[in-house]
Amino acid sequence: MLKNADNYISGEQMSRELGISRAAVWKHIKKLKSEGYDILSVTNKGYRLKSVPDCIDVSRISASLKTEYIARNIRYVNVTDSTNDEAKRCSDMPDGSLIIAEVQTAGKGRLGRAWTSPRGAGVWMTLLLKPEIDPYRVSQITLIAGIAVCHAIGKDARIKWPNDIVIGGKKTCGILTEMAAETDRIAYVLCGIGINVNTPDFPAELKDKATSMYIETGVMQDREEVAAKTLNEFERLYNIFIKEGFAPLLDEYRKDCVTLNKKVRLIYDHETVTGTAVDVTEDGALVVDTDKGRLNVTSGEVSVRGIYGYI
Ligand code: BTN
Repeated sequence: MLKNADNYISGEQMSRELGISRAAVWKHIKKLKSEGYDILSVTNKGYRLKSVPDCIDVSRISASLKTEYIARNIRYVNVTDSTNDEAKRCSDMPDGSLIIAEVQTAGKGRLGRAWTSPRGAGVWMTLLLKPEIDPYRVSQITLIAGIAVCHAIGKDARIKWPNDIVIGGKKTCGILTEMAAETDRIAYVLCGIGINVNTPDFPAELKDKATSMYIETGVMQDREEVAAKTLNEFERLYNIFIKEGFAPLLDEYRKDCVTLNKKVRLIYDHETVTGTAVDVTEDGALVVDTDKGRLNVTSGEVSVRGIYGYI
């Protein structure tokens, strides 16, 4: 009704036409406002819609998909705590299902950190996967997702090992993979991808290390296109991975990885070791030459020193 009205429309008219109370109308208006609709309310005049939120149009994602099974089933939620948690709650959905949200109220990052996911600004999505592979190989799915996002964003994007996507040395995407498994059988994998697409700015404490595609280009980006490109590329890589493992994808990863040939600082619980990152192995480990010899790093936090800010 608000969209069709040229001017103000009274609460009374809405309540009459909809057959609900004035209080119920107000409740709905409040909900629309919380979802990003800009609605003016003026005493004695009623309500007028000023603008609608920039919402993800799922049909536009589907129309751009070239996949067989990735994101062929999409669950779109306006608000959720975390798309990974949402996916956990509906893990009976088919292999390849996508959960995508407009806003996350408790977005999760790696190592227990929070992931800021403002409304309308990014692509916050999780793929529900049911691969028949050894659980120890699941971390490689994160690397694949990294390559997929890197290719979707384009020439300026690189991968900071293991799976941060950076532009101009600042992080624009993070990936959080979780899994549910019995001893040697995977029940499901949740590959959560957060891309800062149109985030206008970041709080002071993040400015040095976080960025968005919009900040880097000065142009608002098409979120549906970014999502669809990532999903198309993900399926291509994932099919290779399922059939042949990570080895055939290693060169693509190495090519995109900004960490290689850089001085890195490995920060463990209490210890810091420095060295040079020289390679990535078939298992996805970072090979680092240090004073103490050559290390294969599979976990922990690695930061790269040098001309780049946080990498
Ligand atoms: C990181 O770099 O720390 C990982 C960030 C992962 C964020 C994404 S957004 C979609 C999905 N849902 C979450 O709660 N987290 C991931």
